[in-house]
Amino acid sequence: MSRKIVLSGMQPTGRLHLGNYEGALRNWVSLQDEFDMYCCIVDWHALTSDFDDTAAMKDRIFDMAVDYLASGLDGNKCAVFIQSQVKEHAELHLLFSMIIPIPWLERVPSYKEKSESLGLDSYGFLGYPLLQAADILLYRADLVPVGKDQLPHIELTREVARRFNSLYGEVLPEPQAKLTKFAEVPGTDGRKMSKSYDNVLSLADTPEETAKKISTMFTDPEKLRMGDPGHPEKCPVYALHRIYTHEGTDKIADDCRTGKLGCVADKKHLAQSINEALAPVRQKRAELVSHPDVVWDVLRDGAKRASARAGETMELVRSAMRLKYDS
Ligand code: TRP
Repeated sequence: MSRKIVLSGMQPTGRLHLGNYEGALRNWVSLQDEFDMYCCIVDWHALTSDFDDTAAMKDRIFDMAVDYLASGLDGNKCAVFIQSQVKEHAELHLLFSMIIPIPWLERVPSYKEKSESLGLDSYGFLGYPLLQAADILLYRADLVPVGKDQLPHIELTREVARRFNSLYGEVLPEPQAKLTKFAEVPGTDGRKMSKSYDNVLSLADTPEETAKKISTMFTDPEKLRMGDPGHPEKCPVYALHRIYTHEGTDKIADDCRTGKLGCVADKKHLAQSINEALAPVRQKRAELVSHPDVVWDVLRDGAKRASARAGETMELVRSAMRLKYDS
């Protein structure tokens, strides 16, 4: 029995933060032992919104790849690669664009929302989810690990596969979303951790930067000074303790409630826990940053392995569509 195929994708946003780590990366690292995994850095998707900011793309790709590898993705187990280095993504997207009605794309919830809020109206932006369908179907993936927000894109991918198969014959299996339960990670201001809120703790931060950011964190607004009783269930510092402090979290909650534990000491403790958890990642990170060739080699090798699978799929697709003219 061959192993199931997993395809995951992430836009090259640069350095990753704890929210990315808990929401996606940690899960990918655990999947790579069980499945044939392809991890795609989707630089073409990034162009659908950041087409006017291409100078930073290479650094963003590099920083993200470093964080992937430092977090435990292993280039020998998982093909980590850049989307634009496997041209078949573009070819399959183009073929899909011929068979998919425009209203299918206009109906995708993220389209209307984002085209209005971000003023995006390009042809490529409308095609964003179709390019994502191509990313997935190009590997004939069985599973796609994503968050809930991506479910409409996976549903569209399944519809694309069905339409292709009904026109040309059974070539493309319908993939399934693999939703994972993960801890929602609050940012330093108590909102969801997100680059756009400027509230992130990055894997690449130094221990001092981490401690400094945590020292300014939002806490329970009713606990103003040490003796005041706090409400750990409302406090983002406590939410992070629950993820990163392995022992004594109940005591932290009790001491906060009774006023015995003040926020300053509590935050120092949290910084220590997070810095301990990240120490091995940061060490690996520093090694990779000082050997950039290793990172580019992993990406090149990943693209080679991805191309092999993508090439097989495109042969099947071109045959099914009767688009082979070589003899
Ligand atoms: N749309 C995904 C996101 O914003 C990124 C993505 C592109 C993706 N292609 C993919 C995710 C293929 C999974 C599979 O997170």
